[in-house]
Amino acid sequence: MREGPVIEVKNLVKRYGELAAVDAVSFEVERGEIFGLLGPNGAGKTTTIGVLSCLVKPTSGSAKVAGIDVTRDSLGARSRIGVVPQEIALYPTLSARDNMLFWGRMYGVAEAELAGRIDELLEVVQLAGRARDRIDTFSGGMKRRVNIAVGLLHRPEVLFLDEPTVGIDPQTRRSILELVKDLNDQGLTVLYTTHYLEEAEFLCDRIGIMDEGRMLAVGTKSELTALVGAESVITVRADGMDASLVNWLEPLEGVSDAALGDGDLTVSVTTGSNVLPPLVERLTSSGTSIHSIDVDVPNLEGVFLHLTGKSLRDEADEAPAEDPAGAKP
Ligand SMILES: Nc1ncnc2c1ncn2[C@@H]1O[C@H](COP(=O)(O)OP(=O)(O)O)[C@@H](O)[C@H]1O
Ligand SMILES: [Mg+2]
Repeated sequence: MREGPVIEVKNLVKRYGELAAVDAVSFEVERGEIFGLLGPNGAGKTTTIGVLSCLVKPTSGSAKVAGIDVTRDSLGARSRIGVVPQEIALYPTLSARDNMLFWGRMYGVAEAELAGRIDELLEVVQLAGRARDRIDTFSGGMKRRVNIAVGLLHRPEVLFLDEPTVGIDPQTRRSILELVKDLNDQGLTVLYTTHYLEEAEFLCDRIGIMDEGRMLAVGTKSELTALVGAESVITVRADGMDASLVNWLEPLEGVSDAALGDGDLTVSVTTGSNVLPPLVERLTSSGTSIHSIDVDVPNLEGVFLHLTGKSLRDEADEAPAEDPAGAKP
């Protein structure tokens, strides 16, 4: 396999008339990582994936998969990627196995290899026992697992998953996330889009935050939180604390604020600072009796709020309806 990033997107623009669905977006995905595109509906996530999978023609900019320009050699690029689309594209009256046979032939998987590959993948997505059952007897989560298996049939170098957990119950969602993690542990590079903060935090090595077509920031969770100067808050509940504690804390490196309330102390510290150990030591050595210590670490919610002035949470709270039967291919 070649060196260098699996995905390279530079100044990508996709316009629909006046609207810039994707507006000068740049990012790279390294081999072996799970890269997340996090943003609300309309951010431009699906359009970005569409360009990378050669379904959407970009207005300007460049997009490469495994070093191949998607507009110059779309067949070459497509052979390197597996796509798990938002809409489920399975025939309801065919079995899981027959759906996979259909898609394997569409992708040009060698006939000699296809049956074995299907068995192997149905095992991976834990549906081996249901291989011969019709898709219309499957739950939404099971159908999504078949879709993931379909996306992997031709042994792609990178798998695109576009909001694969929207509209499914929390338990199934968990199993999809675990499956993506397992696939990544086995070496698969993943590009994952979501508007759920928790998923991005749980799953992704690096995250690109998108809104209204623009890429606002890219980095690991700690890089992103550091970028916006987000802080952790330590809350201590204890008896016998007094003002001298605040006076001791305030000049410490990493402490931006300390305040004593009625039986509790709150300390704001910059991320990565190491205030907790000396604080605990001082409390215990001064004979304070500690009831509890909580550390509230900064999260992506705060980062998103800082970058956009709006909350992603509002959107994540909506419960989209389950796709009842699934669309035909
Ligand atoms: N084929 C299209 N024609 C016109 N506008 C589109 C089309 N596809 C997407 N858009 C618009 O582009 C913006 C980005 O959409 P999309 O990439 O689907 O965002 P996301 O996947 O993050 O929800 C939205 O405002 C959407 O309405
Ligand atoms: Mg989308």
